Amino acid sequence: MDFSLSEEHLMIRDAAREFAKTELLPGVIERDEQQHFPKELIKKMGDMGFMGMMVPVEYGGGDMDAISYVLVMEELSKVDASASVIVSVNNSLVCYGLTAYANDAQKEKYLRPLATGDKLGAFCLSEPEAGSDATSQKTTAIENGDHYILNGTKNWITNGSSADYYLVIAQTHKEKKHHGINAFIVEKGWEGFEIGPKEQKLGIRGSDTHSLIFNDVKVPKENRIGEDGFGFKFAMKTLSGGRIGIAAQALGIAGGAYDLAREYSKVRKAFGTEICNHQAIAFKLADMHTQLEAARYLVMKAAWDKDQGTNYDTSSAMAKLYASQAAMDISVEAVQIHGGNGYVKEYHVERMMRDAKITQIYEGTSEIQKIVISRSLLTD
Ligand code: CAA
Repeated sequence: MDFSLSEEHLMIRDAAREFAKTELLPGVIERDEQQHFPKELIKKMGDMGFMGMMVPVEYGGGDMDAISYVLVMEELSKVDASASVIVSVNNSLVCYGLTAYANDAQKEKYLRPLATGDKLGAFCLSEPEAGSDATSQKTTAIENGDHYILNGTKNWITNGSSADYYLVIAQTHKEKKHHGINAFIVEKGWEGFEIGPKEQKLGIRGSDTHSLIFNDVKVPKENRIGEDGFGFKFAMKTLSGGRIGIAAQALGIAGGAYDLAREYSKVRKAFGTEICNHQAIAFKLADMHTQLEAARYLVMKAAWDKDQGTNYDTSSAMAKLYASQAAMDISVEAVQIHGGNGYVKEYHVERMMRDAKITQIYEGTSEIQKIVISRSLLTD
């Protein structure tokens, strides 16, 4: 068993680390404060190859493995979890979904610009009454000649107003329940497609989250992904990979908070010495580092499973479950180690604590991950 990273992986990680330091760190506090979506950074992240990392070269992507993707997600998330969720949704929900299941014409038209960062994607599964309970889709896509008519509302959509292309899950044959669900590629600007107001969020405030409203939107039949009725499986398969991305985001938030807390403890003095010399702080750092490393192994294992072509539904759920708890625990402790300074914006850890919470909610809550894990344990 080899736990070391290859030269290539180290190069990719270092490039992402440098990018995060030079491009994401300046302005991260202001973007969070103003809920500013970093449109200007998308192009730069595309130029770095971060927007379509696992897409084959023939469609403009980087043809990289999931380990590389996790390393990039971790480094970006250490500094700016808002920027990293934009990257995560584009890579693992949109580009991966199209790479794995779209036909050649769909890939040529939609995947190529998404992979280069020229266009941005969004994944639209959640609804007002179908968040965790994803089979209960109320959005409908009814066949009408050479197209479908799409009606309904989607909620909490990352990249909601900034995306160009949207993968929309909708019910076509209600009587078939989840076997009647389809996935469609919908373009921004199509008649009847409205973008709702921006959500005012606790964390990841630099990413734009919106509800989307579809009123008799005409979607050409050629924009359906896969066979009729494939939409629910498409969503579940795609989400398994998405969970690796969010697990890596959580790992990055945890790592960023830990790094800041450790450095702070080496310079902040109390009771005549640097606070890291007090066991109350040193033991916290020991616990944080141990939890961080455990999370890293689970995240890497899930990515490795994906790269091996073996099933990663369970390992991705375990990685997300554990890493998101680690992000929460470690960021809370990082604030505690910073004391009063931890509660103010300029020290960054309060933002990380707010950002950490979403990793326990989106792409399946922690409770959903436990459903996925426990079912696999009981059916294997
Ligand atoms: N791969 C392929 N098929 C899968 C699958 C997977 N990983 N998981 C489930 N399925 C299939 C099942 O095999 C079953 O198919 P059959 O009936 O043909 O056997 C079908 O899907 C239904 O599965 P279940 O009976 O298990 O359905 P359920 O309703 O009991 O539970 C669930 C499914 C795991 C709870 C699922 O609904 C789920 O994951 N919910 C959470 C949804 C979610 O993560 N939402 C996040 C929104 S996206 C987001 O946050 C994006 C963003 O912008 C950041």
